[in-house]
Amino acid sequence: MMDGVIQEAEAELAKVKTKQATVELRAKYLGKKSQLQGEFKLLGSMGDTERKDAGQRLNQLKLALESLFDTHEKSILSALDSTLPPLDLTKPGLGAPYGHLHPITIVLDELYNAFTRLGFAIVDSPEIETDWYNFEALNMPPDHPARDMQDTFYIKDEGETNSILPRTHTSGMQVRFMEDNKPPFKIIVPGKVFRNEDEDRTHSWSFTQIEGLVVGEGVSVADLKGTLLTVMKDIMGEDTQIRLRPSFFPYTEPSIEIDVSYRGEWLEILGAGMVHPRVLSSAHVDPEVYSGFAFGVGAERIAMVKFGISDIRHFWRPNLAYLEQF
Ligand code: FA5
Repeated sequence: MMDGVIQEAEAELAKVKTKQATVELRAKYLGKKSQLQGEFKLLGSMGDTERKDAGQRLNQLKLALESLFDTHEKSILSALDSTLPPLDLTKPGLGAPYGHLHPITIVLDELYNAFTRLGFAIVDSPEIETDWYNFEALNMPPDHPARDMQDTFYIKDEGETNSILPRTHTSGMQVRFMEDNKPPFKIIVPGKVFRNEDEDRTHSWSFTQIEGLVVGEGVSVADLKGTLLTVMKDIMGEDTQIRLRPSFFPYTEPSIEIDVSYRGEWLEILGAGMVHPRVLSSAHVDPEVYSGFAFGVGAERIAMVKFGISDIRHFWRPNLAYLEQF
């Protein structure tokens, strides 16, 4: 029974040089339709003694065949390995270009450095805000005309104190922070803001602001001007020209806006002012003892000036040719 099958398999295997062919040959000798499996099926019709002997022999034969095929497969694989070039993990890649930081991230990093050099702490903040912190605590009750300048996408109960909205500016952190922290302090609060706004060359519906808040005893307009001049010169160069214009925000008094000279035009980059006494009171800070200044800088606008970008919409378009220029 099955005499010479090992020799036969050895002779056939000697001619086989690929893994696939070995697998096929293994099926011929060991698979469901092999002669060996046929012999196994016959065991059922044998008497006890005969079945025991034949079963043992068939199992030995099966093990011998399996080991024959295993050994052959391993030898094929190791032969393959030795034909491959050795793997050098220190080799440079296939010449793919290196990526780099997005221009807004570059500007944010520079702002963080400039402000922390002046002793500011960087504070995290929520992007979803309540109507109270975003508007009311900042002296903008429902129906206040200043709300029209910052229309947004309400999530719940438009215009009510408890309504929830994607924040329109980072200023909501002013009262939030003052409720939990006693003056004196100097903080910046970076983050995304959202407005229901028609897009154009200098406006997008979502952009990045950096709020600043400094509160202490005897903080003055001179501190506001000195701080912002120092930072703008730090990140845009000593010869940067800026212009201060009087403005209006319900939560600062007096209020100003700062423009930077950009390709012969003045581009507005931030709004600022001395924190309104009513805002200090909303946060339980005594306006008789403390004063402070606040500002909100647009990071995209700074990047536009710094890198000479003419259209804000480029920042968020998936245009690699544009991004590769930085
Ligand atoms: C504000 O958002 C005030 N919260 C700023 C402020 C903070 C005033 C603290 C006083 C005290 P304004 O809407 O002007 O103000 O926006 C501030 C800056 O964000 C602008 O100077 C500009 O740089 C940027 N900005 C405003 N709207 C857009 C827009 N649609 N797209 C891109 N940048 C914008």
